[in-house]
Amino acid sequence: MKLSRRQTLQLGFGAFLGAGCTQMSQLSNSAFGMPSKDFPIKGSLSLKQRAAAKGIIFGAAANQRDVVRDTEYAQVLAKDCGILVPENDLKWADLRPSPDQFDFQRGDWMAQFTKQHGLLLRGHTLAWHQSNPEWLKDITRQQAEQVLVKHIHTVVKHYAGRMHSWDVVNEAIDGAWSDRADKLQPTQWVKLLDKNYIEIAFRAAAAADPNAILVYNDTSVDYDVPEDNRTRAAILKLLESLKSRNVPIHALGIQGHLDAAEKRFNEKKFRDFLSEVAGMGLKILITELDVSDRSLPADIHVRDRAVADAIEQYLSVALDERAVSAVITWGISDRYTWLSRYPRPDKLPVRTLPYSDTMQRKLAWNAIARSFDAAPKR
Ligand code: XIL
Repeated sequence: MKLSRRQTLQLGFGAFLGAGCTQMSQLSNSAFGMPSKDFPIKGSLSLKQRAAAKGIIFGAAANQRDVVRDTEYAQVLAKDCGILVPENDLKWADLRPSPDQFDFQRGDWMAQFTKQHGLLLRGHTLAWHQSNPEWLKDITRQQAEQVLVKHIHTVVKHYAGRMHSWDVVNEAIDGAWSDRADKLQPTQWVKLLDKNYIEIAFRAAAAADPNAILVYNDTSVDYDVPEDNRTRAAILKLLESLKSRNVPIHALGIQGHLDAAEKRFNEKKFRDFLSEVAGMGLKILITELDVSDRSLPADIHVRDRAVADAIEQYLSVALDERAVSAVITWGISDRYTWLSRYPRPDKLPVRTLPYSDTMQRKLAWNAIARSFDAAPKR
């Protein structure tokens, strides 16, 4: 069985280990070579400054519990980021301990942190089946719309005027496994409200904050593999249908969870996809960039180059499209990355983000810097 990246992550690393080991044994250091390229950078500007010089926003996701107790980490975030995304603090599971409660503590702390450091704040996410609290399983079809709208009104109003953008709906489509024609995942929201939940969510968000950029965010659109090809096609159809009904949607978020061992990046297909989205008058944000090094050899130098290479190849195409207005990494340091939960077969710490776990800049940082430096101005 071939698992998509989305599925391996959803099923957990146990399901992936077999595949990972096979791939691992097939790949030697020489398979990746030692590219002569050292990803040189000019000057000493931060990532946010390099991005801003081209009219782009750079930022990262972080969890409040890490930022609050790790000053070194907080400093790196404040220095390099122009925007921060609470990684989990604004998800249903964290915000909604019970049907009557909204726990804004951690989200508010992050809002205050961004304000204090002059950063933008981004909201993630108002509807995502994987972050639903247990109690949500008990709601009926009759209650569903009201529960969804109440959540969105309350949360979006709470941050209105402070939020740059909201991922209103996350990962609605699954080109790998959905057997529906529209490729919607058969999540609880779909079971309760069918595809209407998407429109309901966007309209509720717009009513609660007319100024935030409202984003449809999804994953697995990056490679020329059948499931990603189906996901891209389904996303285009969804966006067209939302636009044709004047649903207030302003941007597509592309998560960008890359895999350094995946060679099937098709520049033309990705470019064409971005240009079709831009053609609908939508902005595009790269919202969760990171690069799995799970199937790479152990050698750190080889891994860091391969990760940087994947980033530069991807961003050089993405940033050529002027509708791409932001690049956000899912974490900024290997000290805190969700990919640690899906460990390498050899159990070595993963190296997926711009900073190492000791907060040293890696070649991935250079790759992002170089991509901004080379990008056309917006
Ligand atoms: C992940 C977080 O990083 C984890 O800490 C959490 O346990 C699960 O969610 N796509 C998304 C993000 O849209 O919300 C996910 O974040 C990563 C995949």
